[in-house]
Amino acid sequence: MLIDVTAYAPATVANVGIGFDILGHTVEAVGDRVRVRRIEEPLVRIRTIGGIAGALPVEAARNTAGRAVQALHAAHRLGFGFELDIDKGIPLSSGLGGSAASAVAAVVAANALLEEPLGQLELLKFAMQGEIVASGSAHLDNIAPSLFGGLVLTVGIDNPRVKKIPVPPGLRCVLVHPHMLLGTREARAILKADVTRSDFVWQTANLAGFISGCYSNDLDMIRDSFNDVIIEPQRESLIPGFKDVKRCAMSAGALGCSISGAGPTVFAWSEIQYAEAVRGAMVAAFESHGLKSDCWISTIENYGARVVQA
Ligand code: HSE
Repeated sequence: MLIDVTAYAPATVANVGIGFDILGHTVEAVGDRVRVRRIEEPLVRIRTIGGIAGALPVEAARNTAGRAVQALHAAHRLGFGFELDIDKGIPLSSGLGGSAASAVAAVVAANALLEEPLGQLELLKFAMQGEIVASGSAHLDNIAPSLFGGLVLTVGIDNPRVKKIPVPPGLRCVLVHPHMLLGTREARAILKADVTRSDFVWQTANLAGFISGCYSNDLDMIRDSFNDVIIEPQRESLIPGFKDVKRCAMSAGALGCSISGAGPTVFAWSEIQYAEAVRGAMVAAFESHGLKSDCWISTIENYGARVVQA
């Protein structure tokens, strides 16, 4: 029987512009690792938090990874416990799904230590308990892609359906993370509780157009519908220079550009041949607003969380 397992979970772009709280995709090359060790005491504790850790709570109930494993532990009334070592690869408060990735990696590792491992949908629910600790609300658009991989749509919360959406070949996601912090709670707190009927029509049309464009490899449809008329306009002022960054990305050939999750990372989808130019344009635009940044070019259909060491 295994007693010590490490799992990796990738970063994610939540919302993907037009699918607030229901659509997200994985990002290559950035992610969190969690090592989980089986211990005799029937409890969950965090031993270390390393990497780009910042000031994360080590108390399990207040930590996304700890809370997620506590939920799994409580649901199965296990006679043993888990000790976690969390290695953060995803910058904090960056809009790249760091809290979700820690929760997902933790439940995937803990699951590998169970005599009868659970299915992914069950793990999704436990990881969501961790996400609630971080953002104060239940949403799956980081958790589900981080766990399942690729571009993922979720329908429902208590008994979610998870649907992988195909991505046309030759597309890349450009991500630019300006060096500033933006909390998910803060970025959710400013959102209005209602929408106008015309915005509702535009947004549903755009989401439907975007998804149908993905299924039919219709890049024009994706470009025309890659437009969040509800959330982005309310959040753009939280990110200095956002409008310029987006304008520059689009001029350099992007199919669409928006805020990754709650921000401040800005992402753009583009055909592979324009990806470098899009990245350069976005980085330069942030620089002109006095913000240094990190940037990545990622494929969109990637693997989800997995055990990397057992
Ligand atoms: N859908 C969420 C939001 C993602 O935009 O608030 C945050 O991680």
